[in-house]
Amino acid sequence: GTTLGASAAEKGRYFGTAVAAFKLSDSAYTTILNREFNMVTPENEMKIDATEPQQGQFSYGSAEQIVNHARSRGMNVRGHTLAWHSQQPGWMQNMSGSALRQAMLNHVTQVATHFRGQIYAWDVVNEAFADGSSGARRDSNLQRTGNDWIEAAFRAARAADPGAKLCYNDYNTDNWTHAKTQAVYTMVRDFKSRGVPIDCVGFQSHFNNDSPYVSNYRTTLSSFAALGVDVQITELDIQGASAATYRSVVEDCLAVARCNGITVWGIRDSDSWRSSQTPLLFTSSGAKKPAYDAVLAAL
Ligand code: XIL
Repeated sequence: GTTLGASAAEKGRYFGTAVAAFKLSDSAYTTILNREFNMVTPENEMKIDATEPQQGQFSYGSAEQIVNHARSRGMNVRGHTLAWHSQQPGWMQNMSGSALRQAMLNHVTQVATHFRGQIYAWDVVNEAFADGSSGARRDSNLQRTGNDWIEAAFRAARAADPGAKLCYNDYNTDNWTHAKTQAVYTMVRDFKSRGVPIDCVGFQSHFNNDSPYVSNYRTTLSSFAALGVDVQITELDIQGASAATYRSVVEDCLAVARCNGITVWGIRDSDSWRSSQTPLLFTSSGAKKPAYDAVLAAL
């Protein structure tokens, strides 16, 4: 193929990007989006603060803009994210206990129901594990409602949108030897053994000097896949955009049958949440970088 999406599709995979609704009026942006990608993730528009800014009042306009842009052009959509400790609206930040548990489950149900049938995979729960060597859950208002909050969210999502794949998504879960990776692995193994409805694990894969790509990444992907879940690379960016590292990530995904695809976290360096790291595949003026050529060649 001559584009990322078409080449990935030839291998039975997808190649996606995060998309910001407010950029859909930028033709330089949409030209690359429409040409290169066959999966999109709303960068912020499906987060809790965007979709339920006031309790019980749902707001789907900018998320729908992205979903409609994508699906009308044959692209699929990853839904991101139904339950997360971050980017919560003020009303939720101030909640706790059973009221918060109920509000979280209602949020999952309402949003997944609204988009039912239109989402390829939901990041049902995002970033629920702590960094460092503890292997513990991250402390958060959601975690304090009880350790079973994650499986409760997955069950609510399955009931609301039974056709979507349901993913657990996190960062710094790339290095197989790290406690956080092992802790997520143990949770997924437990969920599979008890019939909790989980279909996939998302690896954000924000690689930088503090958390670099390591060669055991392929072992991580294949070990999770061996539990009976799909794996997806959901938010890829690489500080400095080394062509060799991008190539390795693509090769690792292609080496794992259950790696469905790769999403980069933005199109041009200027679109990146970490733009000073110039971590993406296109320059700020929209030119293909050496990393782009490496990815296309590896696909
Ligand atoms: C980031 C967005 O890119 C920014 O625009 C926003 O200000 C903060 O969130 N992990 C995730 C993503 O799961 O939702 C985050 O996205 C990046 C880290």
